[in-house]
Amino acid sequence: MREWLYDVFRERPWWMSAIMVFCAFMAFVYMPWDLFMKPVAQDEEVWFGIVFRGSWAKLMALPHWFVYAAAVYGFRRRRPWMAFWAPAYVAQVAFSMFVWRAAQTGGLAGLFVGLFPALPFIALAVAFWNARDYFAPRPLALVTRFGPWALVTGASSGIGASLARQIARDGMNVVLSARREERLATLAADLERECGVETRVVVADLSERSGQAALLEGVRDLEIGLLVNNAGLGCIGRFDLVDGEQLRRLVTVNCEAPVVLTHALVQGMRERGRGGILFTGSVAGHIPLPLHAVYSATKAFDLFLGEALWGELRASNIDVVVLEPGSTETEFQEVAGEIAHSGHDADEVARVGLAALGQQPSVVVGWMNWIRANVASRLLTRPIAAHVAHSVMAKQTPEDLL
Ligand SMILES: NC(=O)c1ccc[n+]([C@@H]2O[C@H](COP(=O)([O-])OP(=O)(O)OC[C@H]3O[C@@H](n4cnc5c(N)ncnc54)[C@H](OP(=O)(O)O)[C@@H]3O)[C@@H](O)[C@H]2O)c1
Repeated sequence: MREWLYDVFRERPWWMSAIMVFCAFMAFVYMPWDLFMKPVAQDEEVWFGIVFRGSWAKLMALPHWFVYAAAVYGFRRRRPWMAFWAPAYVAQVAFSMFVWRAAQTGGLAGLFVGLFPALPFIALAVAFWNARDYFAPRPLALVTRFGPWALVTGASSGIGASLARQIARDGMNVVLSARREERLATLAADLERECGVETRVVVADLSERSGQAALLEGVRDLEIGLLVNNAGLGCIGRFDLVDGEQLRRLVTVNCEAPVVLTHALVQGMRERGRGGILFTGSVAGHIPLPLHAVYSATKAFDLFLGEALWGELRASNIDVVVLEPGSTETEFQEVAGEIAHSGHDADEVARVGLAALGQQPSVVVGWMNWIRANVASRLLTRPIAAHVAHSVMAKQTPEDLL
């Protein structure tokens, strides 16, 4: 109990902890009493300086209750939205105090009298504003959070190579895996020289069970604290025209391999009580994509797998995130047989994914992609989205595969 209390309070400045305790008291003791026990006739609530009484006060107490409960959560979990929300809410209280007292007294004197109760809240709003960095997303400290080694699949190019580079810069040793050994060896040498970390290259074809087993065998003696399931490929074209064996490989690399690797490595993470798993999904996982049907289905699989594991593993201190890029400038388009089109930078995509690890279950890269993934697919309904997507995908599909 003492250790738990120490853990809860040591992180933030004392005055923030004091306010957190006050908010907890309000959320769990005072507001329930105020809402359910206090006689309606005696109830009063003030919002933006407007005084609500009776049943209106009961109603306006609900957002107050929510505010206190959210504040406890925000302080405790150090949520980034607190950076703006805490000073804004306290400024609202200062304003309310000022208007309330000024109106009670009236005239010029009222302005003066109103200032007194508002001043402590103005000071507190300023203190929160000055301390807003405390709520900023924590800088990467992957090695402290997850342990000495990361495994990155699909590290020979594109997003995987960028992820490996950023993980190594953060001090973690990295196992680099893919099929093209020369590329992995070059990257490994660069990382050792530039970042001073250890590396290991494990060549494995994840479209074969034997390749998945070889990779697991290759890391058996290492404490893998961060698993990056990034290897993946697409295959554009009308379903009956594309090569069936290529589709089988695609499903195995994009879906089976992440399941097999995660299942094998999560056991150690659980035992050690810490770990991280990143799945590279895609915005394609939100919308059924005609002419990329199998690919979008595999990415929907990755999204559901990752988000479900996020829910399952968070209590074991294992962070899971699904990174969902849109078009990114890598070798992906060439491998998938797509007509070339522009996209995000792979380094930027990797940065977004690593920053989201431990913050949220999934992250879409770029606001246009976010709209595509979350708004378009839901507002349009999936069949309509598929219809619209068909015309978009047709522009990226070579004529002989339409
Ligand atoms: N680029 C995009 O527009 C985009 C958009 C959304 C999502 N994504 C996802 O991002 C991830 C990375 O793709 P990328 O854009 O970086 O493309 P990329 O440059 O083509 O990289 C794909 C990586 O996967 C590896 N890989 C492919 N088949 C493999 C196999 N059978 N066994 C082992 N490794 C294999 C490749 O290595 P080897 O060829 O050396 O084996 C390569 O390192 C994929 O999961 C992809 O679905 C990409």
